[in-house]
Amino acid sequence: MTCHQVDGAGAQNMIPPLIKTDYVLGDKAQLIKILLNGMNGEIKVNGDMYSNEMPSQAFLTDKEIAAVLTYVRNSFGNKASVVTSGEVKKTRATIKK
Ligand code: HEM
Repeated sequence: MTCHQVDGAGAQNMIPPLIKTDYVLGDKAQLIKILLNGMNGEIKVNGDMYSNEMPSQAFLTDKEIAAVLTYVRNSFGNKASVVTSGEVKKTRATIKK
């Protein structure tokens, strides 16, 4: 909530929303990689452009990443499948390799 805010709405032109975005509702491995690698560079989210830096959250455990992504994918009006710690572990291993 520091950046994306408690309602997931983000901050205009600064921090993108987490509400019904292709990244949040889309491919789980890609979403997990956003948290493990962080993100920067120009991206389009719900038609608006953002170009800012998201720090890596790789310090979180597999269980914590699974919990926060399951929460984000099922809050703010989002409805999507859960993310398991096994999926996070597998994605973390592919990044390491
Ligand atoms: C565990 C917590 C977090 C989750 C689940 C999360 C999720 C996401 C997702 C899914 C995106 C892709 C675009 C979108 O769908 O909005 C994104 C982008 C972004 N996030 Fe986060 N985020 C988290 C923590 C943070 C923190 C702590 C910050 C600020 C310090 C941050 C700043 C940003 C920024 C600036 C972008 C856009 C990056 C760019 O312009 O290339 N996020 N985040």
